[in-house]
Amino acid sequence: MDGDEHPRDGTALPPPASVWIDTTPETSYEPLSGDREVDVAVVGGGITGLTAAAELTDAGEDVAVIESDRIVRGVTGRTTAKVTAQHGLIYDHLRSTVGDELARGYAEANQRAIEHIAETVERRDVDCDFGRTPAYTYTDSPDERGKIAAEVEAAKALGLPARFVEDTPLPFDVEAAIRVDDQARFHPREYLLALAESVAGAGNHVFERTKAREIEGGRRNRVVTDRGTVTAETVVVATHFPILDRRLFFARLYPERSYVLAVRASDVPTEGLYYRPGEPMRSLRTHVAGEEDLVLVGGEGHKTGHGHGPERYERLERYARERFDVEEIPYRWSTQDYSTPDRIPFVGRVGPTTDGILVGTGFGGWGMTNGTAAGRLLADLALGRSAPYRRVYDPTRFSVAALRTALGENAHVAKEFVGGWAEGMRDDDATTPAPGEARVVRRGRRPVGLYRDEGGDLHAVSAVCTHMDCIVNWNDAEKSWDCPCHGSRFDPDGAVLDGPAVEDLPTRPFDG
Ligand SMILES: Cc1cc2nc3c(=O)[nH]c(=O)nc-3n(C[C@H](O)[C@H](O)[C@H](O)COP(=O)(O)OP(=O)(O)OC[C@H]3O[C@@H](n4cnc5c(N)ncnc54)[C@H](O)[C@@H]3O)c2cc1C
Ligand code: FES
Repeated sequence: MDGDEHPRDGTALPPPASVWIDTTPETSYEPLSGDREVDVAVVGGGITGLTAAAELTDAGEDVAVIESDRIVRGVTGRTTAKVTAQHGLIYDHLRSTVGDELARGYAEANQRAIEHIAETVERRDVDCDFGRTPAYTYTDSPDERGKIAAEVEAAKALGLPARFVEDTPLPFDVEAAIRVDDQARFHPREYLLALAESVAGAGNHVFERTKAREIEGGRRNRVVTDRGTVTAETVVVATHFPILDRRLFFARLYPERSYVLAVRASDVPTEGLYYRPGEPMRSLRTHVAGEEDLVLVGGEGHKTGHGHGPERYERLERYARERFDVEEIPYRWSTQDYSTPDRIPFVGRVGPTTDGILVGTGFGGWGMTNGTAAGRLLADLALGRSAPYRRVYDPTRFSVAALRTALGENAHVAKEFVGGWAEGMRDDDATTPAPGEARVVRRGRRPVGLYRDEGGDLHAVSAVCTHMDCIVNWNDAEKSWDCPCHGSRFDPDGAVLDGPAVEDLPTRPFDG
């Protein structure tokens, strides 16, 4: 991928790369070859899938993990990995919307997930920079003090060790913050590569470069992949956005893309996970990288396929430089997560008639604990064990208020479908882009996505998303075609980068 120029002084920016992926070895598990039968097929090798697979392996199940790319290179390979049950301003909201019982269940499930990670690190002796640290949700606005105080009371009432503070270890002042002790941070890839090794080491299977195309329910469930079919008693769909559209997940989940810088500075705080809710949202945490510490600065979230661009990195950099003594910015990257209308993930059986198909999704930017809780819950359900937080996360739950939120969040979707795409586009719009640029043009009745790379080569693909026919938009920050409807992403040659789409965009001959 081409590097960009810094808009301030024209110097070359490092190409987007995650510090987690860059500092760990590439995996090389073999693809599936032919057909197989197992007890449980786990589709997706991120934190949800690998946590479930490790639990199932420990319970003696015959498990196959099916991963379309290499494991832990999806969202989990690009997270900021704050391991906390303090998810911004959430508990006051949950108490007033879903009630104390479910709100308490959510807080407990996430607290237990931290303990599960701590126990796993200890039991398996995983070297992954795991360390306890407090989490802070802070504000710099006097108007927000009341919200912080209300959140402290709600979190305490639900059993979290929360308190109201006015000072943090950050090198700048805050107005007020919630402090929750005994939360954690880790290197997510080191942790999860160790879990994958434990799965493979026990004689189970991790199949990489094996794309699930379809999941068929029946007496025995089947995962149909591009390399063969895996038949299983239970299928765990842990593909981030579920690749099966039963229960209309695409209408109840909305994607948000956000950006991260890893910053080398002389005043990195020695401890703490920091989150500033509202506009602009900011996320900060220290990452101990060998001899030196980096601070990860995150934020600039927006709906996938809408309003992307290098200026997002620029605003984050300005924020970092105004608050830290920045020496260098060695990494920058971006990724996306999905939210549900009531802010609680969907984890469990997809429906009453599909007993053996389970799903975990919608972590709303808090998948280190929610994804761990999901992996454990999915393993419990597959094993027929009691599953304590099953009701909290039930994917079949329904409320009118949540439906209203979903309709509001997805109101733009109808406009993006292929039917009306060419309105207003004249034939002479079909000019080809200059090097480094991209556009959607009309070719007969077909929309074609054109990108001319820095070397002058033209890449032409169908601009119709293979999930449900929305027109994709060019994302200049990541050099990808992003779908504004449900968040699928494709590389310049049409290969799927992020689902729910499972089919690539077909290439189109173009002689411009
Ligand atoms: C910028 C950013 C920062 C974040 N920071 C935090 C944080 O500090 N703390 C926190 O708790 N959470 C954070 N999150 C959220 C968290 O990272 C995610 O919720 C979590 O990583 C999602 O894990 P997953 O296992 O569901 O998905 P993934 O890690 O994406 O795993 C899904 C896997 O499925 C594979 N797959 C997809 N389709 C197929 C297919 N058809 N066949 C086979 N395999 C397939 C993918 O390749 C991928 O490997 C952040 C999110 C973002 C966007
Ligand atoms: S992701 Fe659903 S139409 Fe593109």
